[in-house]
Amino acid sequence: MNQSLNHILEQFNKKIQYAINNSSLNTQLEESMRYSLEAGGKRIRPLLLLSTVNMLSPNDIEKGFETALALEMIHTYSLIHDDLPAMDDDDLRRGKPTNHIVYGEWLAILSGDALLTKAFELIANDQANHAEIRIKLVQLLSKASGHLGMVGGQTLDMQSENKSIDLTTLERIHAHKTGALIRFAVEAATIIAQAPSQIAQKLIAFSEHLGVIFQIKDDLLDVYGNASDLGKPVGSDITNHKGTYVSLLGQESAEKELTNHVQKANDLLDELSHSYDTNDLKTLLKLFYQRNN
Ligand code: IPE
Ligand code: IPE
Ligand code: MG
Ligand code: MG
Ligand code: MG
Repeated sequence: MNQSLNHILEQFNKKIQYAINNSSLNTQLEESMRYSLEAGGKRIRPLLLLSTVNMLSPNDIEKGFETALALEMIHTYSLIHDDLPAMDDDDLRRGKPTNHIVYGEWLAILSGDALLTKAFELIANDQANHAEIRIKLVQLLSKASGHLGMVGGQTLDMQSENKSIDLTTLERIHAHKTGALIRFAVEAATIIAQAPSQIAQKLIAFSEHLGVIFQIKDDLLDVYGNASDLGKPVGSDITNHKGTYVSLLGQESAEKELTNHVQKANDLLDELSHSYDTNDLKTLLKLFYQRNN
């Protein structure tokens, strides 16, 4: 990672530490929420959001933090629920025992619920942005995370277990379960920085490639990665009979598909580089497809 992304990451990680305070109501719930939030994810969604705001309008970066926190909370809740016995039944996440292993199933479910709800509270209360912008962000995030977005994709993913699916179905699953929140990161940035619409459109197209790249890589790592780098188990997709890029296409074609999307994402950044400094987004793009965790 480069210096500017590292700086953003440090600032973000400082803020997330204080995002869930202890109340007098239930410290165990809050401890469980913090456990997963601070377990040390890669933070690629907040980094994408904040570096896109920074690229579009460096003076506005402070306006992105609450939305970036909200996004990471929703992502973290989705992982807590994804790991539950009723879903992927995994016991390792971010290098630590999964939330339900430590706190039990019912508290893991409730922690996820609470993180999801907290996300919208943060955006609604965000004094750094005008009310109209906050409403747009809430509309966008609820759609991206709900039945037409991530939850819809997770549902398709579960429904397709033990079935042979075609590539179109797999692309639909990926675009929703993973793509929707990655797209939100970029689209939210264009709203916060009030980017011109033709720039926003290019960035959104870029983010759609990024979403596919991210999930193809995730599928490859589930087979060819190792648990200590990944901080989560390998082979989970095989155990659960999931349709993935690797199971459908094989390693070579999955990698080819990945490269196609990287090329398209790169071309879009080259177009944007006439008007903006795209270095951070180029670095992030590399991180998306070269990562081993
Ligand atoms: C994992 O996301 C779940 C997918 C959408 C594939 P990440 O790989 O971003 O997980 P963390 O946040 O770094 O733990
Ligand atoms: C989960 O996809 C994506 C979401 C939680 C929305 P996966 O089930 O492939 O994620 P991992 O591999 O467990 O991180
Ligand atoms: Mg899953
Ligand atoms: Mg999973
Ligand atoms: Mg996976």
